[in-house]
Amino acid sequence: MALTLIIVYLLFVFNIVPSYAAYNIARDYSGSTFFLEWDFYGNYDNLTSGDVIYVDQADATSQNLAYVTSQGTAIVKVDNSTNVPYNIKRNSVRITSKEAYPVGCLWIIDAKHMPFGCSVWPSVWTTGSPWPQYGEIDIIEGVNLMSNNQMAIHSSPGCTKTDPPTQTGQSSGTDCSQGSGCVVDEKQANSYGSAFAQAGGGVFAAQFDSTGIYIWFWSRSNVPAVISQATSSSSMDISTWGNPSAAYPTSSCNIGQYFGAQKLIVDITLCGDWAGVPAIYNQTCSNTGTTGQCTADNVFGAGSPRYDNAYFEFNYIRGYTAQGVSLISTTAVNYSSPTAESSAAASSTGSGGTSTPSQPSAEWRLRVPGFILCTALVAFVGFCTA
Ligand SMILES: *[C@@H]1O[C@H](CO)[C@@H](O)[C@H](O)[C@H]1NC(C)=O
Ligand SMILES: *[C@@H]1O[C@H](CO)[C@@H](O)[C@H](O)[C@H]1NC(C)=O
Ligand SMILES: *[C@@H]1O[C@H](CO)[C@@H](O)[C@H](O)[C@H]1NC(C)=O
Ligand SMILES: *[C@@H]1O[C@H](CO)[C@@H](O)[C@H](O)[C@H]1NC(C)=O
Repeated sequence: MALTLIIVYLLFVFNIVPSYAAYNIARDYSGSTFFLEWDFYGNYDNLTSGDVIYVDQADATSQNLAYVTSQGTAIVKVDNSTNVPYNIKRNSVRITSKEAYPVGCLWIIDAKHMPFGCSVWPSVWTTGSPWPQYGEIDIIEGVNLMSNNQMAIHSSPGCTKTDPPTQTGQSSGTDCSQGSGCVVDEKQANSYGSAFAQAGGGVFAAQFDSTGIYIWFWSRSNVPAVISQATSSSSMDISTWGNPSAAYPTSSCNIGQYFGAQKLIVDITLCGDWAGVPAIYNQTCSNTGTTGQCTADNVFGAGSPRYDNAYFEFNYIRGYTAQGVSLISTTAVNYSSPTAESSAAASSTGSGGTSTPSQPSAEWRLRVPGFILCTALVAFVGFCTA
């Protein structure tokens, strides 16, 4: 009896049993209100040289490029109904959350389908402003007929990548300020493309915490019950989520220093600086058209069937905040400057420099009474058996 209690006590105190880690829902993008809290780009792709015009909200709505289905899912897609003439860009969508998420946040993205196909380059990602001083987190990204999701962070010089043993994905790149950033390839099947859709989609999550940035993926059949049973108002306990696919511990990249408040972005571009690079395009799409070139073989001409799969179908996207953290609602360019971040100050707790997904401050309020209780019980049992 005493031994059991002592073991429980030790497990608890030394953090061997999962601890409670709660986030509150801050924003639920779903159903008929999915598109209310986003800004539509309304310009051509001037960031990644893609062959698209990201239409404004009026055009996205009238052209059925952003809409909610009768089942309540949200579609974000590339135009597949227009015959695009030579040297003209194709219409697509890029939306940015109106609010910014400071350090101390969590995002969960549940999708049934993600865009894929030759020339297609979708992403769900976040960015601070100015970039790259306030960082970028790429949660979902891939090009052409790639089979696995690719995650990354981008930063200014000084943020590097080390791999904690808990990370299940494959890293490449250790200087997050260079080129593709600190990339982690998802190793799980069904994390991208047609296989993702055939498996019924899945769920991605990213934790943006002072102790690190962590990204998870679950194919539909593996989604943790705490996520599949959550409602649009549930809080979220991440303690049963298991190991993340990508982990960026603050020990090698000081999150508070290299990341400011992040706006969430969903976009689909075509060709451009990644999908369209000849050597990359050729890896999965060399036999797609007559020229072997991304733009010529895809963007121009009929949109269907070439772009029939170039769409996101979201069940929901949810943003969560740790205790004491609030979203930043602003249209200011420098929404993530240190001044704007002051509301995030309360989130800078956590277990600094650990290699496991971190727990927000709520955990400590639960653990301390538990500690006292365990100590009292052990003392009591010790007294009785003496
Ligand atoms: C790209 O377009 C956006 C939206 O119009 C604009 O705010 C931004 O300044 C442009 N960026 C560049 C690098 O031209
Ligand atoms: C890509 O493949 C096409 C057709 O197979 C070929 O013509 C072209 O030279 C290749 N380009 C590169 C950069 O490998
Ligand atoms: C565009 O793709 C959708 C499937 O995503 C398909 O239902 C629709 O028929 C296509 N549009 C045209 C004009 O072919
Ligand atoms: C935004 O903040 C950064 C860093 O604090 C600063 O360098 C930059 O000049 C600011 N930009 C604007 C438009 O205020």
